[in-house]
Amino acid sequence: MKRLGLLTGGGDAPGLNGIIEAACRVLLHHGYEIIGIQDGFEGVFEDRIKVIKREDIENLHSMAGTFLGTSNRSGTTGREAEFLEKWKMLKLDGVIVAGGDGTFAGLRAFQNDMPLIGVPKTIDNDLSGTEVTFGYDTACSVVADAVDALRATADAHRRVIVIEAMGRTAGWIALGGGMASYADIVLIPERPYSYQKLKSFIQQRQNGGQRGLVVVVAEGAHAEKESANVAFRVEDAPQSERYGGAAYALSRWIEKECAWESRHVVLGHLQRARAPTPTDRFLTLAMGVEAARMAMEGSWGQCTVYRQGQIVRAPIADLMGPPRLVPADHRWVKLLQSLGSFI
Ligand code: F6P
Repeated sequence: MKRLGLLTGGGDAPGLNGIIEAACRVLLHHGYEIIGIQDGFEGVFEDRIKVIKREDIENLHSMAGTFLGTSNRSGTTGREAEFLEKWKMLKLDGVIVAGGDGTFAGLRAFQNDMPLIGVPKTIDNDLSGTEVTFGYDTACSVVADAVDALRATADAHRRVIVIEAMGRTAGWIALGGGMASYADIVLIPERPYSYQKLKSFIQQRQNGGQRGLVVVVAEGAHAEKESANVAFRVEDAPQSERYGGAAYALSRWIEKECAWESRHVVLGHLQRARAPTPTDRFLTLAMGVEAARMAMEGSWGQCTVYRQGQIVRAPIADLMGPPRLVPADHRWVKLLQSLGSFI
């Protein structure tokens, strides 16, 4: 009987449980023993593992979080030899890893020693090598729902509501969620804004009699000649910066400079906490099944990616490139501009 490992690493993303259920269903059906490694790399270092049975995984796909636990705090840098030794002690024939850039960067050193299958994951949608990641659609739906809901209170009070979306250095969540909800203003890191242009846009809306205004700002967005606000750092984490404060700063600036009462809302981890949307479920079902097939075929060093409307295979190194940012003239940017929104 073959013994396969399953590991989820980095920040959780809606759909991780779908990957687990889909891959395990296929592998258990084919008689594999599946060892769940808990809490990302920490499970390898500390031998935190559990055997996964059929009854563990039923209906997991509809739940947020990850059945295995995860961590975005610990990497492998400086502990490579220890990691490899602990990995060997698990006596696995291979491992399926669902993770983001931090996770795959942490595995770069072991590409020749560990039989690996990769599954790209992040709500930020900024992983290189794939056109979309699961969790992203669900995060966008949280942003869109928030814009829809907050528009009512913005209009009721004649206020500007500034909503902060996650995404680190990429603006995909703010852009996708803001576009789906026809937000008035969308600010993303890839398009540093001009205070002057922003002010005149807001004043135009004000003078035109608009009651309320809804702004979506990515946590990493910033004005020209400024940089994103790092709220704090998580020492030793593969990506140590934690962004925050963009919505607060902007709402104070709007109230002062545009004389329009403003409030801010930080969506934070709600964007990761919702049950996956059907789109994310389709993606994780297809990717989970494909990852299991790859493991059974021994296609080590490969990953599942989404390209041109299909789930295909690619070298795992494709996921290890720099973040995939929003092109400044992306077609979604142009769509928002056509709606009359500021971006
Ligand atoms: O990468 C996913 C993400 O949710 C980012 O959008 C966000 O900046 C970060 O993780 C938050 O990390 P933590 O869960 O450590 O607060």
